[in-house]
Parts: sequence; C-alpha cells; structure tokens
Amino acid sequence: MTVQVDRQESVRLEGVSKLYGDLLALDKVSLSVAPGEFVCLLGASGCGKSTLLSLVAGLDQPSGGAISTAGRRVAMMFQEPALFPWLTVRANVEMAMRALPRRERRAKAEEFLEMVHLGGFGPKRPHQLSGGMRQRVALARSLAQDADVLLMDEPFGALDAMTRDLLHDELERIWRERKLSVLFVTHNVREAVRLGDRVVLLSSRPGKVVEEFPVELARPRRTDSAEVATLAARITDQLKREVARHGDVAHKTAAAQEVRS
Ligand SMILES: Nc1ncnc2c1ncn2[C@@H]1O[C@H](COP(=O)(O)OP(=O)(O)O)[C@@H](O)[C@H]1O
Ligand SMILES: [Mg+2]
Repeated sequence: MTVQVDRQESVRLEGVSKLYGDLLALDKVSLSVAPGEFVCLLGASGCGKSTLLSLVAGLDQPSGGAISTAGRRVAMMFQEPALFPWLTVRANVEMAMRALPRRERRAKAEEFLEMVHLGGFGPKRPHQLSGGMRQRVALARSLAQDADVLLMDEPFGALDAMTRDLLHDELERIWRERKLSVLFVTHNVREAVRLGDRVVLLSSRPGKVVEEFPVELARPRRTDSAEVATLAARITDQLKREVARHGDVAHKTAAAQEVRS
C-alpha cells in the first residue's frame, strides 16, 4: 500500500499494524505529526510505543498499513544515551557527521554542545558526566544528524525530577529554534502535558489510538502547575479506563502502576 503524502505532515502513519509472531503489538494505528509540531505519545508499559517509533525510524517494517516521513531526515533518541565510552564527548557528537571534513565537523560539534549547554565539555569522556549531561550529549548528537524530525523514546525516564525539568526547558527551546517536528514517547502523563502540543493516548496492547488531547496551555509550562495537573488528571483517568479494559490481570496491575508515576 502506498501512502498519500500530504506535504503538510512530517510524519504520517495510516492503519499501521505490527505482529511479532502471533503477538499483535500495534493495531491499525493512524497518527500524524505536522511540521514544527510536538506530539507526545502516551501509553502504559508494553502497549507498543517503542515499536511504533522503531517503525517510523525505519528500524523495522510494519506488518500492515503505511508510514511516511515525506523524505525528511529522522533522528532517534533513547532512554539510554548509548555513547561510545572510549570517545570524548565531542568525538561522540562528531560521529553523527562523518561525511563532513574534519575541521567543519569539529566546529559543528562544538556548536551543538554549546546549544545543549555543554560548551567546554568536549574533551571529557562520558563517564565523567552526570546522567543528565550524558542525555544532553545524546541530544547534541541527534541534532548533529541535521534531522527535521526527532523521535524520542522516554529519553528522560531515567533522570531525577529536577534534571528532567531542566531538560524539558532545553528541549522546548531547541525544538522552537530549530523548528523540529517531535514525536515524544512517554508513560509519564505530566511530562506529556508539559511538552506536547497534542497528547495521543494509546490503549494497552495491542496499541491503538484511543483519544487525542490538544494541550492549549501557554508555554513554557511547569510540570507542577495547577493547569498541567488538571489536564494530566483527566488523561490519567482515561488511561486507567483503557488499562482496565484490556489485558490480563498481571498486565493490568503492572500497567496501572506505571500510569501512577
Ligand atoms: N522484537 C520483538 N519481538 C517480539 N516481541 C516484541 C518485540 N519488541 C516488542 N515486543 C512486544 O511487543 C509489545 C510492545 O512492546 P514495546 O513496543 O516495547 O512497548 P512499550 O514501548 O510501549 O513499552 C510487548 O508485548 C513486547 O513484549
Ligand atoms: Mg518502550
């Protein structure tokens, strides 16, 4: 099946399904991200969020449906920064730009490190940095791929709340400055409301789009603000209903615990 590419969309999924053997991970998911839009994909653990991102990134093929990124450059960021420990911070960022001449690569790597507030840390090795700083390096490396579309799979899930807040602010600034389209996966409802122009809720396995919530709150938002909390509570209620409707008891319990965070 070919997909009708709408130039207005950076990412488009149409009726996308994914089977792993006889396990249906995604069930006819349709979703789009407009240029410059920040979309958060929210769902309980195991509902197919990572699967969906890997399909958009082209790391795996869907079993049905169609995906288009309209020829745009796509970069992916994971929960683990996946840096080469034996390389310096700057060399890790340079890895994304191997096609460029050495001098240009080096200058650009410095520029991207400045952008994530790590100017001067280029000569350090990853183990000399904190977890939050390592995720900044991973973000700089994604930016160095010169992508228009950033796919993020729970990128701040392993960080403490204060570091996460700081990185939310930075990501928001960079998203705006570089006019990126972002598809951001999380199981943290408040994080989704803090960041998204729109929050797309997936059901428990098989993942299916249940509902979309536009987030019309002024930016920058605070994760601990009353407005964010109010919308997050509404979405959490819906998510809990979804979790309760699907899956076996063990899966339900684990998923319900996940959505409480
Ligand atoms: N490569 C794979 N082979 C088999 N099953 C997989 C594979 N990847 C994911 N799954 C299964 O698909 C479902 C969705 O997984 P995943 O996309 O990782 O969920 P999420 O990211 O929402 O937690 C899970 O039941 C998981 O066990
Ligand atoms: Mg996942």
